[in-house]
Amino acid sequence: MRDLFKKPLINFTYIISFLMLFTGIVLSTIVENFIILIAVLLFDLILFLVILQFIYTSYMKPVKKATEVINEIGNGNYQARFNHSTNDYIGKLSYKINTLSRNLREISIQEQAQSEQLSTIIDNTQNGLVLIDEKGYIHLVNRKFITMFGKTSKEYNGYIYYDVLEHEIFHKTVQNTFLYEKNIKSEFSHYIGIEKHYFEIIGVPIFNEKDRLKGAVIVIHDITELKKLEIMRKDFVANVSHELRTPITSIKGFAETLLEDGINDRENAKEFLKIIYKESDRMQLLIEDLLTLSRLEEENFQLVLNKIDVSELADEIVPTFLLKARKKKLNLTVSIEDKLELKADKEKLKQIFINLLDNAMHYTPENGKITLTVTSTADYVHIKVSDTGIGIEQKALPRIFERFYRVDKARSRNTGGTGLGLAIVKHIVEVHEGKITIDSEVNEGTNVHVYLPR
Ligand SMILES: Nc1ncnc2c1ncn2[C@@H]1O[C@H](COP(=O)(O)OP(=O)(O)OP(=O)(O)O)[C@@H](O)[C@H]1O
Ligand SMILES: [Mg+2]
Repeated sequence: MRDLFKKPLINFTYIISFLMLFTGIVLSTIVENFIILIAVLLFDLILFLVILQFIYTSYMKPVKKATEVINEIGNGNYQARFNHSTNDYIGKLSYKINTLSRNLREISIQEQAQSEQLSTIIDNTQNGLVLIDEKGYIHLVNRKFITMFGKTSKEYNGYIYYDVLEHEIFHKTVQNTFLYEKNIKSEFSHYIGIEKHYFEIIGVPIFNEKDRLKGAVIVIHDITELKKLEIMRKDFVANVSHELRTPITSIKGFAETLLEDGINDRENAKEFLKIIYKESDRMQLLIEDLLTLSRLEEENFQLVLNKIDVSELADEIVPTFLLKARKKKLNLTVSIEDKLELKADKEKLKQIFINLLDNAMHYTPENGKITLTVTSTADYVHIKVSDTGIGIEQKALPRIFERFYRVDKARSRNTGGTGLGLAIVKHIVEVHEGKITIDSEVNEGTNVHVYLPR
């Protein structure tokens, strides 16, 4: 009953009471028995108020509650429920509202999961991404972009692109994407720390359903590795051509002289032919080295693995080197652990010994000392070639395994070197899953360590 004297019923209560009073006043002029009139009017008043109360609790109150619940749902609280377990309209309404809330909750969970998936993909993609709207404001930069170009996403989001994207190429790409409404592609370089990186940048326009331009996505792809390969390939071709040109020029020159009149002078002719032979030999060596390298690099390259007795292998190589050493007045000592065996490709292993000993002999002046030591640990066989030669300066050490790299080009070429020896050794070591290190001191000597798994 208290509800009748509170909002929103109080006004209805007043109106009914007033109507009863008004009816009483009107009827009092024609009805003589006041007691019966008052009793009837009171009874009517009470009846009306009871009906009002009933309508309020059965319909108005639940509708009010339903409105509140719908408001909650509208505000995103999909847990909100309206419990009214009657069989009438309100009961049905409550059932519908709860179903709606449950469905919305389901949809919102799915949407959240999808948006999480999407942001995980965006953040973990290997490309930098920037999303720009049609007015030029940035809406999203992904994690990769931030690792490439610094700052935080807060410093990009909400800003106009030309205020926060520093590279001129970004501005051009965005402008051209908007202007031509098609994919715009270009390349640029940028330093990350001290390292120069190459990037491909693609501007992709975004359209809405009516084919109106909505914005653009800028995709940045790190192509440093590809660029390096391209540079390496160009260098390689240039190097090979350069290396071949010297002997070919020489062969051609001497052959021409011989053709002209060299043959009559037998002594001279012999000298020229010797040079031609030496130069063609050099070319053959170079081509063999190149072939060895390319075979090692073949994708389906297969090692011929056998158990190899290191001492036996050394016996096949060392005598030639001892002879050469004696000629060059070098002291070559060999120390190989007894009964040392390892699984390796015999010809390739031989090549390691030959190339390393060759270098030690070439780059050690007279009266120098060269040692070849082979020892073992539980997992590795350790081959060490040391010399007391000219050594290699520190800054050249990181490049020593590059193809065609020679510290002193003229000197190395005089010894017939092509700069492929160590590149081949490194490749062989790598295909055996071993490792190679080198330490050296100018004018003191060089130590090369090769570790091969047993
Ligand atoms: N033991 C060493 N002492 C000093 N310098 C060395 C030594 N080994 C290699 N080098 C330097 O490293 C360079 C590369 O060696 P690498 O064996 O690859 O080529 P190369 O000896 O010049 O030619 P190749 O071995 O193909 O005939 C050499 O040119 C030389 O400058
Ligand atoms: Mg060499």
